[in-house]
Amino acid sequence: MHTLDIAWSEDYATGIDIIDEQHKKLFELFAQVDSMTHTGSEDDIRYIVKQLLDYAISHNSFEEGLMEEAGYPMASSHKKIHDAFKERALSYEQKINNESNPKKLAREIRIDIGLWLINHIKREDRHYVNDVKAYLKKTSRKRKPLFGLLG
Ligand SMILES: [Fe+2]
Repeated sequence: MHTLDIAWSEDYATGIDIIDEQHKKLFELFAQVDSMTHTGSEDDIRYIVKQLLDYAISHNSFEEGLMEEAGYPMASSHKKIHDAFKERALSYEQKINNESNPKKLAREIRIDIGLWLINHIKREDRHYVNDVKAYLKKTSRKRKPLFGLLG
């Protein structure tokens, strides 16, 4: 069977550096899960899957904070999507902890969560980009004189 390609693509770029860096880091973790299911021990597999799911959850909360600060009007409905994701991710964490043979489940998680992330980046994440960019531009302008003083 062909391994599904869950990897960063320039098509996924939002143009917001901090978000793109975190999305890239997520794709790195997917690659590590993939490689651990081939070469890792059962504990390695459980560990890296937990890293991936925890990082995805904390990345989502980071986004929520940014959307709120930026005054993005759809922030609360975006958060609801994240809440549903978090429930799914936490139930996977529990499942893989109790799974005596985690390899098959890790492969399922990689594909399920990977497809979720790709769809989410391509759809919902796009919608906050303008507001967040405008907000970051405004706040960086305010901060500049401070950096000047420090420099
Ligand atoms: Fe999101």
